[in-house]
Amino acid sequence: MRNIVLIGFMGTGKTAIAKKIAEAAGLEYLSTDGLIIEKEGMPINDIFEKKGEPYFRTLEKNIVYKISELDNVVIDAGGGIALDLENIRNLRKKGVIVCLWADPKDIYERTKFYMHRPLLNVKNPLKKIKELLEARKPYYERADYHINTSSVSVDEAVEAIIKYARERQ
Ligand code: S3P
Repeated sequence: MRNIVLIGFMGTGKTAIAKKIAEAAGLEYLSTDGLIIEKEGMPINDIFEKKGEPYFRTLEKNIVYKISELDNVVIDAGGGIALDLENIRNLRKKGVIVCLWADPKDIYERTKFYMHRPLLNVKNPLKKIKELLEARKPYYERADYHINTSSVSVDEAVEAIIKYARERQ
């Protein structure tokens, strides 16, 4: 089976769904954010604050390059990874790219109690979500398969994604 790569905006359910896919399909779960936090020894907020977003994006790119060579993994990709087309090319070498979507209001509700996402730590997060989502749409649309988690449950999404990946052998 090909690797499964989940891309898409923050709060669309990538982490919850990727972990369940890993369990159900016997694949290893990898999170680009998790690997970055481990490597840098500090949370994402601190990396943005102390070293800047371009530094974070370079870390992401290096991690993506490395993990794109692995087999039997589910990759929970940070929401900005799809903006770099080389990242997508690398991830597609061994994987199917699945984009998760959700309505801006749901994204807002799901993310509002969590402060670990520097891009959403702003005065009006809902406005920011709508703007970023609109700007990123053409990049997310490059995925091979799309699921809207505002209209399906986590379990339905997991099942549909595994089915899709198996059919794409
Ligand atoms: C980001 C998404 C975050 C994290 C960072 C930047 C983005 O990951 O990588 O805060 O640019 O969309 P999640 O999508 O897992 O929240």
